[in-house]
Amino acid sequence: MNQYYILIFVIALLSSCNDSKKGILEIDNHEVESNLVPGIGEYMVQLEYHYHAIKAAINDTNFKRVEFEINEMDEVFEKIEHFHNQHEKLKQPFSTLNQSFMMPVLHELRYAVSRKNVDSCLVIFNQLSSNCNACHALNDVGFIKVK
Ligand code: HEC
Repeated sequence: MNQYYILIFVIALLSSCNDSKKGILEIDNHEVESNLVPGIGEYMVQLEYHYHAIKAAINDTNFKRVEFEINEMDEVFEKIEHFHNQHEKLKQPFSTLNQSFMMPVLHELRYAVSRKNVDSCLVIFNQLSSNCNACHALNDVGFIKVK
């Protein structure tokens, strides 16, 4: 008799799950994505890592490493563009800001690397810093300054 009550209880429990909008096995893709995909700030921390790696590699005249780190940065930009292009903290789409603040200067840096020109790498790196900070200023996080 007890087993019978338990069975009824289990059936009631299962059917109440069916009633609710999301069952146990039904997965909301948006919810999963927003929990698994790094936020824009986490991608920025990745950018900062590559940024410092570029600086160190220029000082070591390790041009292969500079090129490698520029490519890594590019991958981060692609991810931000994919997941956070229309982010509430950005005044314009990330793709637009990226085109004006990051792409030209990274293009120049690639060129200086191909010429193995340390002096112009250093000058362009300073420009990169200014442009990271300019985008921060434009988007009301000017207190975040990379150096
Ligand atoms: C498209 C504009 C834009 C560009 C370009 C940009 N940033 Fe950012 N950055 C932001 C915004 C917006 C935030 C604030 C994110 C938040 O609120 O989580 C931020 C935050 C940061 C942070 C703080 C992250 C944290 O959570 O502590 C760092 C570090 C950072 N950026 C580094 C960089 C570096 C290095 C570059 C250049 C290579 C760069 N950013 C280029 C917009 C930009």
